[in-house]
Amino acid sequence: MKRTLVLKVSPVRPKIEVIRVAARIIQNGGLVAFPTETVYGLGVDALNPKAVKAMFKAKKRPPDNPPIIHVADKNDVYMLAKKVPKEAEKLMEAFWPGPLTVILERSKLVPDVTVAGLSTVAIRMPRHKVALALIRESKTPIAAPSANLAGRPSPTTAEHVLKDLNGRIDMVLDGGPTRIGVESTVIDLTVKPPQILRPGGTTYEKLVKVLKKVELHPVAVADKKVKILWARSPGVKHRHYAPRAKLILVEGQRKEKVVEKIQELADKFMREGKKTGVLATDETAGGYRADVVKSLGSRRNLRTVAKRLFLCLREFDEDKVEVILAEGVPLKGLGLAVMNRLRKASGYTIVKADED
Ligand code: TXA
Ligand code: MG
Repeated sequence: MKRTLVLKVSPVRPKIEVIRVAARIIQNGGLVAFPTETVYGLGVDALNPKAVKAMFKAKKRPPDNPPIIHVADKNDVYMLAKKVPKEAEKLMEAFWPGPLTVILERSKLVPDVTVAGLSTVAIRMPRHKVALALIRESKTPIAAPSANLAGRPSPTTAEHVLKDLNGRIDMVLDGGPTRIGVESTVIDLTVKPPQILRPGGTTYEKLVKVLKKVELHPVAVADKKVKILWARSPGVKHRHYAPRAKLILVEGQRKEKVVEKIQELADKFMREGKKTGVLATDETAGGYRADVVKSLGSRRNLRTVAKRLFLCLREFDEDKVEVILAEGVPLKGLGLAVMNRLRKASGYTIVKADED
């Protein structure tokens, strides 16, 4: 156990003295959790193999799943990647800083452990003053996976980070709740056409406007477990985003059918004596009978839904709920990212409400 230092920092005007404390820790090979616009990251010096190994250990992350390298300057991409194709430059121009991670061929500068032995590297420039200041002051690119224990929902507040990692990391920069709430979109530019490996904060619709052709990797949109022969994005193999409760996702075109199905299941689980939660939306939350009902926000505002998703999953754990019945949301805009997380959190236990 180490003592984890927690310092508050303004997300709009971060004090340089606070950033410097964190940067010093990074430079000495330490572990610092920091806010980005998506979720909190667990940062280490990306070029220091020992520090990267310590990060994997603190998170209990499988060593075959590499983190994203965060930069504060587009020029750093040319150091970390062997080739920077035209499409990558277009995307960096359109979306950086922002919630988009590009996969490129790696350069020799990047240590093997940082990319888990792959020939490619994941890079992004976050849109957050604290993150950017930290990278600049550390004078090195920062490797940072989400700052949760492997398999748990990603942290959108410093409290969530501490819940998972207190005593396991050196420091948390507490910059308040994150704005987007789901992770960055991961797009592979080493294949043609470019392929979205993980839907996230930059929507498919926006990406198509800049790149004429974009594909969605089958795993990114799967509603059942897909057999993976060779995982290009190692993260897709592992169970993810999971609350402690069993989560069942109920999907369907018609809202009324979804509500009916969820109530039927909730009644069944409550009869069995299980503490049952429903993850609903503003339009439906009032109509459920269950032990705990939480709303993600209005179905018409998928931004709020994305922002509240991981928070609600963690709150169900606090409430010691045993079964969560979650409503599906539309598969458009940020809804694609939300559904990807819910489907994975359910371990693909998905009920189709339209089908009976
Ligand atoms: O928004 C985010 O992306 C947050 C913040 C902290 O930046 N980070 C984040 O990192 O979500 P992490 O490590 O939890 O997820 C990184 C994803 C994983 O699914 C991983 O498998 C994938 O990126 N990845 C990393 N390197 C890769 C590579 N070379 N090829 C394919 N996928 C890669
Ligand atoms: Mg993660």
